[in-house]
Amino acid sequence: MKETTKQNIILIGFMGCGKTSIGERLAGCLSYQFKDTDQLIVKKTGDTISKIFEKQGEEYFRNLETDLLIELQPSLTHTVLSTGGGLPLRKQNMKLMQQLGQVIYLRTSKETIADRLKGDTTRPLLQGDDYMEKIERMLLARSTYYERAAHHIIDTDDRTVDELVTIIGTMINDQCRKEE
Ligand code: S3P
Repeated sequence: MKETTKQNIILIGFMGCGKTSIGERLAGCLSYQFKDTDQLIVKKTGDTISKIFEKQGEEYFRNLETDLLIELQPSLTHTVLSTGGGLPLRKQNMKLMQQLGQVIYLRTSKETIADRLKGDTTRPLLQGDDYMEKIERMLLARSTYYERAAHHIIDTDDRTVDELVTIIGTMINDQCRKEE
């Protein structure tokens, strides 16, 4: 078991795996705060994610993600933190997330992701041609990073948001009880 001391839940996974909708509901259920790295970056920069990618490029955005995780270190507690799909790929971010709390990978199949994100215009990395190939290629390349970063892996296919919130909530509470 990877060790962590802080009372936070960090949700990771590919775009469209449900991090934000599950995270919001889970936070409510646990009486935790909810935060989302993309939303915090948008608030901080005043630009949409698409604009940041367009104007300053992906590397700049990745640096914003790392800076944000560093900023959150001293103060984040009793929070469900939803993260951008590419954030766990940096080794430094992986370590920072694990120091923040329990990292949960919401594992989702390429078919479900493709279905959920069809017609979406807000994810710069999935725009243009070859939509399905992009998802397949990126998911294949990223899966091992997600698995390596996670304390727990939950499969989301064929499960509703409510079911997933119950599964995670039970898992976290059981774990809290064991630690008491
Ligand atoms: C990205 C995922 C997005 C956002 C950006 C890049 C990625 O967040 O951070 O478009 O590289 O997978 P979501 O996972 O919340 O869609």
